Amino acid sequence: MSWQTFPKIELHLHHEGAAPPDLIRRLAKEKSINLSGVFAEDGSYGFDDFTRFLRVYEAATSVLKTPEDYARLTTAILENGAEQGVIYTETFLSPDFCGGGDLGAWREYLEAIREAAAAVERAHGIVMRGIVTCIRHFGPYTARQTARCAADTAGDWIVGFGMGGDESMGKQGDFAWSFDCAREAGLKLTTHAGEFAGPDSIRQALDDLRVERIGHGVRAIEDAAIVKRLAETGVVLEVCPGSNVALGLYPDLRAHPIAKLRQAGVKVTVSTDDPPFFRTSMKQEYAGLEQAFDWTPEDFAALNRTALDAAFCDAKTKKRLEGKLKARTKL
Ligand code: ADE
Ligand code: ZN
Repeated sequence: MSWQTFPKIELHLHHEGAAPPDLIRRLAKEKSINLSGVFAEDGSYGFDDFTRFLRVYEAATSVLKTPEDYARLTTAILENGAEQGVIYTETFLSPDFCGGGDLGAWREYLEAIREAAAAVERAHGIVMRGIVTCIRHFGPYTARQTARCAADTAGDWIVGFGMGGDESMGKQGDFAWSFDCAREAGLKLTTHAGEFAGPDSIRQALDDLRVERIGHGVRAIEDAAIVKRLAETGVVLEVCPGSNVALGLYPDLRAHPIAKLRQAGVKVTVSTDDPPFFRTSMKQEYAGLEQAFDWTPEDFAALNRTALDAAFCDAKTKKRLEGKLKARTKL
């Protein structure tokens, strides 16, 4: 099966993490910024573990300095998404990178991102919504500023609040103020958990942050009680299999727990996380899962229906997307 045209919904994509290396190189050249240590010899991003991945990610991000840069980035991400058959994507946007947490600056970045997204939607049909995201290793105080930016711009386009970054820093509960602030502003919630930290981090995310989705969450498989809780409560996992293999959590896709979690009744979805960093794409994720687990177009259509239900956008947008899924898969 060629997965090129199969309609896909992606719920877990870091905006800076989706930056094509060529765009980052071009911006670095335009601004005379030295990016030594960021790229491998073949021109892709170079890193060999999660800590270095985060360092390279932040170094590459340092060339994105203006709203116009983010507009260019947004256009590149969404044109690539449309090319992959993606019809809807939620990306993680970080006011920490877009204006250093200043609300006025964040509004300017957001306007530029939204304008670019609207233009790509008109040209290619792909719909984007934003999840404002705090960065765990920047600490709870910085996260509060981020949450204020999120709350202030919450609406039908900024639809969620989340947290990424280094899971070894602090506890989920340290960020409860920020998540409460975002919830009160009407935002839906997700946090990275059970990626590098064990299953207890998922328990903490559910108890202390009361999120409705979990970024990754795959290490739930190590704790039967957590698997049961996820299945019973319907909390959705934003699974990024290629990312997990690239960062060494599992040796290959066959060893990845996504199929076991699904069999146990956990709601799973499929995303790419930071595709050029992990040398992946939505097409490749689908093809890899087809090969590893014999998943059929019916399986992928079911995953996309789960993703559509779990999307943070409003009911009207979901209805539109549902029509596209039905028309294009006939499933
Ligand atoms: N930021 C970008 N990618 C990430 C990942 N896979 N985990 C945590 N934080 C991230
Ligand atoms: Zn992520």
